[in-house]
Amino acid sequence: MLVLRDISKEYTERIKSLALRSVNLVVDRGEFLAVVGPSGSGKTTLMNIMGLLDRPTSGQYWLDGQEVTRWSDRRLAHIRNRSIGFVHQSFNLIPTLSARENVELPLVYRQIAPQKRRRAAEQWLERLGLSDRMAHRPGELSGGQQQRVAMARALIGNPKVLLADEPTGNLDDPSAAEIMKILEELCHRGQTVVLITHDSRFAKAADRIVALREGTLQCGEAESFAN
Ligand SMILES: Nc1ncnc2c1ncn2[C@@H]1O[C@H](COP(=O)(O)OP(=O)(O)OP(=O)(O)O)[C@@H](O)[C@H]1O
Ligand SMILES: [Mg+2]
Repeated sequence: MLVLRDISKEYTERIKSLALRSVNLVVDRGEFLAVVGPSGSGKTTLMNIMGLLDRPTSGQYWLDGQEVTRWSDRRLAHIRNRSIGFVHQSFNLIPTLSARENVELPLVYRQIAPQKRRRAAEQWLERLGLSDRMAHRPGELSGGQQQRVAMARALIGNPKVLLADEPTGNLDDPSAAEIMKILEELCHRGQTVVLITHDSRFAKAADRIVALREGTLQCGEAESFAN
């Protein structure tokens, strides 16, 4: 489903920094992959490239059989909306929209009828324990609530690939367990999940764990990373 070959990323806009060094990674359809590694090791950079939010400096990337590395921004935005659900580490919710409107957004871009997308948003927010918070704006929600809104927004479009950057970072145990249950269900249905986490309990729930160290991907036995 995802194939990265020799992907490197050097940030050059303001401060030069080599964030990924020749990363090779294949994620199969229906696989649940956990990515671990210390702060600053390149996890979010890798996720942004996999989620078509950023381009690698060099290397090639195939998404669902298509080499997308040199696609136009417009084409990338289209395939992103169709294929990828993204839960950002910092939520990236739109502050002027309610929780429900934020969750609906991917379906607005797909021109789904208002009633239908509203119902879908309400169902996901209920599932994530936010039925009484639908009209709240992000600034009126706790960190954990915003995180669950971001999760609902990523899931509403039924994406082939879900990329989740620390989706349980702000949650209590029951909410985190619910998120993990959802991720496992997605994989059983054939969707592909890439989870960035610092929590070894959650990493262990994945089919496979890879670790980043200073921009280099290390593959090996799950146990050595998860502890
Ligand atoms: N826009 C940027 N310009 C310059 N350097 C950057 C930029 N974004 C990230 N970096 C650097 O690239 C490296 C990787 O950053 P990244 O955000 O991918 O780390 P991370 O593994 O997600 O860390 P964390 O666990 O703290 O979220 C870091 O050293 C960071 O300082
Ligand atoms: Mg990060």
